[in-house]
Amino acid sequence: MSKGKILVTGGAGFIGSHQVDLLIKEGYKVVVVDDLSTGQQENLPESLVFYKVDIRDAELAEVFAKEKPDYVFHFAAQINVNRSVDDPIFDADVNIIGSLNVLDNCVEHGVKKIMFSSTGGALYGEAETIPTPEDYPCTPLSPYGIAKLAVENYVRFYFEQKGLSYGITRYANVYGPRQNSKGEAGVVAIFAEKMLAGEPIMIHGEGHQTRDFVYVGDVVAANLCVFQSDKNDTYNVGTGRQTTVNEIFNMVRRSLDLDFEPKHVDVFSGQKVSCLSAEKIKQNLGWSPKTKIEEGVAATVEWFATKSSDLRVDLRR
Ligand SMILES: NC(=O)c1ccc[n+]([C@@H]2O[C@H](COP(=O)([O-])OP(=O)(O)OC[C@H]3O[C@@H](n4cnc5c(N)ncnc54)[C@H](O)[C@@H]3O)[C@@H](O)[C@H]2O)c1
Repeated sequence: MSKGKILVTGGAGFIGSHQVDLLIKEGYKVVVVDDLSTGQQENLPESLVFYKVDIRDAELAEVFAKEKPDYVFHFAAQINVNRSVDDPIFDADVNIIGSLNVLDNCVEHGVKKIMFSSTGGALYGEAETIPTPEDYPCTPLSPYGIAKLAVENYVRFYFEQKGLSYGITRYANVYGPRQNSKGEAGVVAIFAEKMLAGEPIMIHGEGHQTRDFVYVGDVVAANLCVFQSDKNDTYNVGTGRQTTVNEIFNMVRRSLDLDFEPKHVDVFSGQKVSCLSAEKIKQNLGWSPKTKIEEGVAATVEWFATKSSDLRVDLRR
């Protein structure tokens, strides 16, 4: 028997599509809404019910009315931090107004619980406590982080005032197969694709800046844990470990067995350190990351290598 129907917004994207795979495996019925602005339909099983709809559009209500989902996983977002700095209105339109449209539809159509994908990396600023726990003050430095925090607060408001249950997960730097290498955040994807194409790789500054890299398979497992718990709560999803950009570069290079040197350009002026404490989700729900960074990077590189060899075959046809 099906465990219920889940509408996944942004399900054709990197993390969303892995979530779709896991939810189907777990026995849920899944439908996806995505405008394909950065996602790709080929990330999804062919038989899946798919709506090419923008979460800001009135058409979203028709999808809710037709599909009557029991639950919603909300991944759809403008995810580019630099773009949010250049165009805060567009960022807020998608990430705040679009999310409010999703929330309103959840209430209107009797959805039992919403899962919201937030950020840890863009929420705590240059934190003094590393790894950073959930109760550390949120001082986002970009419109992207500001919008994510606003939506977290709206999600809690919809729970308090309208009875919509929720789970909020704040991700560290997620990496893995299907990540879009055209974005700015996916350094593993960017390094892998550039090395495979023989293109030069620039690292801003010395490359000593650190991030908390968490594998996508672990992230979707964490979301499932939070979704299946009875608590309405907010959790970091990270590893508690820092890895430098140089270390990532070396792991990708080792996985490809290539002789490649990066060019260090400019002075790095961004956030120097980012690392999330995942103690709360471990203590409360028993989740901890399973994938070692070397294994996750190797799996990601392998996926990019297969994809690029497929492309070469296509070009020869
Ligand atoms: N990747 C990370 O490291 C990371 C870290 C923190 C939070 N997040 C959050 O996780 C979620 C998924 O991110 P991702 O890395 O998979 O990015 P992604 O770009 O692969 O996924 C976003 C998906 O949303 C879709 N989308 C964008 N705007 C839309 C709109 N207006 N209407 C409908 N669909 C729309 C895109 O086509 C895409 O499929 C986002 O909410 C993002 O903010 C990601």
